[in-house]
Parts: sequence; C-alpha cells; structure tokens
Amino acid sequence: MTFTRRNLIALAATVSVGASLAGLGAPLQARAADDTVKIGFIEPMTGPFASTGIEALAGAKQYIADHGDTVAGKKIQLIVKDDTGSPNDTKRIAQELVVNEGANVLMGFGLTPLAFATAPIATQAKVPMIVTSAATSSITEKSPYATRTSFTLPQAASVMGQWAAKNGIKSVVTLVSDYAPGKDAQDWFVKTFEKNGGKVKEQLTVPLKNPDFSPFLQRVADDKPDAVFVFVPAGVGSQFMKQFKERGLSDAGIKLIGTGDVVDDQILNDMGDVALGVVSAHHYTAALQTDANQTFVKAFEKANNGMRPNFMAVGAYDGMAMVYHALEKTNGDASGPKLMEAIKGLKWESPRGPVMIDPKTRDIVQNIYIDKTQKVDGQLYNVPIETVKDVKDPAKAAK
Ligand code: PHB
Repeated sequence: MTFTRRNLIALAATVSVGASLAGLGAPLQARAADDTVKIGFIEPMTGPFASTGIEALAGAKQYIADHGDTVAGKKIQLIVKDDTGSPNDTKRIAQELVVNEGANVLMGFGLTPLAFATAPIATQAKVPMIVTSAATSSITEKSPYATRTSFTLPQAASVMGQWAAKNGIKSVVTLVSDYAPGKDAQDWFVKTFEKNGGKVKEQLTVPLKNPDFSPFLQRVADDKPDAVFVFVPAGVGSQFMKQFKERGLSDAGIKLIGTGDVVDDQILNDMGDVALGVVSAHHYTAALQTDANQTFVKAFEKANNGMRPNFMAVGAYDGMAMVYHALEKTNGDASGPKLMEAIKGLKWESPRGPVMIDPKTRDIVQNIYIDKTQKVDGQLYNVPIETVKDVKDPAKAAK
C-alpha cells in the first residue's frame, strides 16, 4: 500500500481511536475528503427487524431523490451498513465507519439498544448521531452528540392516555414489549390516563424476541377492560393482530388502542378488518391529507414498488433533512461540534407537518395525531381524527 495523505489520516485515526478506547490517547477524530460529507447509515437490513431498515433506507434515499445529492457545495454520500439488530454489531460498525471511512455523521438505529450501544462512540468521536428510528426518551441523554428525528414513546403514549380518558374509556390493561421503549410507553400511558380519571387494571409485558401474545391476551380477556393499550415495535403488529383476532378479543368488545407502532403503515393493509376501529396516537400517518405528505407518499410508493411509507421512512427522510439544513447553516462545514450547534433549534416542514429540534434536549418537537384505522377506497389507513400540536417529549419536560 502506498501512503497517500488519506491513508495516513485513516491510519492516524485508527491509532488514536485504539489508544483512546484503551483510555490512553487523544480523542478520535473523524475525517472525510473535504468535498464529501459521509453519512454512516446503520439499520437492521436483515433479521426480525429488517422492515425498519428497509423503510428507513428508502426514506433516506427519497430525500436525496427529492433534493439532490449536493448541499452547500458538499456531495452527500450514504454508506449503508446492516447491523442485523445486534447492539455489538452496531457499535463495531459505528466505530469502523468513523475510524476507517471517516464518517461525518452516524444515522439510523432501528432499536433502542442499538442507539444506546453507539452513544459512547458518538461522544468520543464528536460525531453527530441522528436517531431516525429508536424512540426511548433517554437516548438523547446518552450523548451530547445524539439527536433525533423519530419520536419518543412518552410523546405518543401521553397523548393517547389523555385521549382515552376523555373519550369514554374507563378501564385499561396495558400490554407492551419488555424493553426500554415498552416501559416508556406503559409508564406515560398509565400516568396520563390515571391523571385524567382512568383506571389501569393490569400492566403486562411481553418478551421482545419471538413473542407469543396468546397467554397475555387471555389475561386481558379475563380482566374485561374497556380497552387494551398496546406498544410493540414496528413490524411486530401483524403477529399481534392475528392473535388478537384468534383470541376473540374484538368480538368480546375490548377496544384496541396504542401508539401507532402496532398499526404500522407498512403492514397495515395486510392485517385485514380486525384493524378497523383501532385508535392510535403517533407522529406520522400516510393518510395525512397535506400536499407535502401526499406528494411524499406518491413519490415513495412509486420508487419502492408500491410499498407505503411508514413512520420509519419519514424518520430517515427527516434525518437527511436535518443534515442538509445543518450543512446550509454551517456553509458546508461538517465538523461534529459545528453540525451539532447548527442542529439545535432547526425548524423545517416535514411530510409529517412542522418539526423543530429542541435546542435544550436535541429531541424533536412535533404534532401527534390521534388516528382511527378505517377503510379508504378499499385500503386500510390510519386516518387522523385529532391533532395535538407541537408536542415536546414530556419525559424531559418532567425532569
Ligand atoms: C425502539 O426500539 O426504540 C423502537 C423500535 C421500534 C418502534 C419504536 C421504538 O416502533
């Protein structure tokens, strides 16, 4: 190998990260060729959560298709990596992207544990980490370089808790996946539902991996609440709905409410009529009737063989919007500290509506829609029936 300038920089960076990870040396620095901004995009592209990565990557690519691959004189390069949903892999890949490839930005993170695993790398490398998928509130507290374009479970669940109590639902059993975002969803639903006069009969947690919902649904049937509040991560809703139907809960008159994850737009149409009437709270629905969203939905479906954009797609679309707007502000300076300063307080118009990055928390402020699953022209959609505007992450406001 001949030692070009670039090789030497990469080598120096490798040495410094090796040393600093061992607690010995200078902090690691990311470098990219001056005319290119490299975005290390890490998502599960295979494995049980591949649907998230596939939607997210399509969303990021749609942004480039809509806005070009150059901003503030810099060429944007996406470097896509599959972490298969394993935190150790995410961390290793993030490190390699920063050290060997000179990534200026890390983006993606399909599940909370993957984002948690990467936060120390972002801090040490001073590289912005844009979370476009994962949604546990505390992620953005794990690194001053973490920011987010997805949502937080407390944002959606608190709106649902309030709505349920005010709309005739008196008793609820909660049923969530047993990991950090499930706990966030459960805690914030319970808190707001009870504050508004509702009664929570039982709080159930279901394993994240290979979940069998049947025994839990039997418990719900025995408790006879007015409604069951559900959080399962994107992609898992189909399995839940199938078992919900098989157990006869909808026939027993138990309503299904949740954050919008359970009626994820990518798989909604295949769920069948059991999904009709589900009420959910979320920051995105493909059924949003704005020009910006309808243009986005049409272009996305055309580019992806009819696949409908879901909230993971819009999260990554906006992750790219964040990079573009920040680079415009820094005049193309892609150093981590400059980008982070530019990101704080950014505002833009997303397909989901107006969004803002809270300069204090680096988390997204956005509308939360109450959606009712209905048939429109023979297809299932989560149709917005109410909008709560400019919702901040309540978990951080409470601290
Ligand atoms: C997460 O792990 O943070 C997560 C994953 C999928 C979702 C929501 C949250 O739909």
